Amino acid sequence: MLNAYAQVENEKWLDTDGHFINAHGAGVMFHNGTYYLFGEIKKGKTWLVPHQSWEDYRVPAGGISCYSSKDLKHWKYEGVALAPLKGQPGNDLDTSRVIERPKVIYNRKTKQFVMWMHIDKKDYSYSQSGVAVSNTPAGPYYYLHGVKPNGQMARDMTVFQDSNGKAYVVYSSEENNTMQVCLLSDDYLSPTKTYSRILINKRREAPALFKNNGKYYLITSLCTGWTPNAAMYAVANNPLGPYKEFGNPCIGKGAETTFEAQSTYVLPVNGKYIFMADRWNKLDLEKSTYLWLPLTVSNGKVKIKRE
Ligand code: GAL
Repeated sequence: MLNAYAQVENEKWLDTDGHFINAHGAGVMFHNGTYYLFGEIKKGKTWLVPHQSWEDYRVPAGGISCYSSKDLKHWKYEGVALAPLKGQPGNDLDTSRVIERPKVIYNRKTKQFVMWMHIDKKDYSYSQSGVAVSNTPAGPYYYLHGVKPNGQMARDMTVFQDSNGKAYVVYSSEENNTMQVCLLSDDYLSPTKTYSRILINKRREAPALFKNNGKYYLITSLCTGWTPNAAMYAVANNPLGPYKEFGNPCIGKGAETTFEAQSTYVLPVNGKYIFMADRWNKLDLEKSTYLWLPLTVSNGKVKIKRE
């Protein structure tokens, strides 16, 4: 089954209708024997936001797509899981905004599917986590609110659900200088007051958190916008940390740019892992592609290798 990753490193990752898969900054939820892939819909002309200190290339916020698969190979398009809104610039889901890095988890108590994502304004000054819910895995999702957990900035993010049912949101905070991890409420709809600061002043983003053998592994990138850089991983005994930092998990040619990609998710599959990343095309964002590679953990060391 892990051979599925091989198909993903090319320009043509197609769904079962033969269309390009449009799911960037993606995450996967496994539910009742089916994998659900959620990602950013990138469509339209790329433009550069003027007067920014960084290369703020954008397309209109396209909302969130969903694809489903039983074997990680054949992906069926399930439609738009969270639709953007047109002509409502004050709304978090307006196409002029930023809707990125969706991650979905299932709450066994409320029987709801809960989506967390990064919501922003085009200059990234808004820095919030958005929350949406649905009673069905593929949606449509209903947007509840955007939040700054404990008043803290929240940009690039992921959500992690532990085996004991507790869930956490992990986000680049404090002007991207420091990450934070915040425990979610039991219904997964809001942040709690329990949070920690991690990777302090390390300027990390694109977090992907997974668990192996009772330990928590966090893969992140450096902050260089759409341009790829070297990944780093850190390990903890608790999702809230403290995290001990290790080096780059990537090995071989291209390791210093994460093989020209940026982390988005680590998917556990029968005791093995798939490292999911985005290969951004900053000048034409809708042409961005994907990279999936096998990830291994051995004696506490993470390795991501391109065969
Ligand atoms: C990246 C981030 C992406 C996107 C981009 C905008 O660093 O990981 O999700 O926000 O910046 O430039």
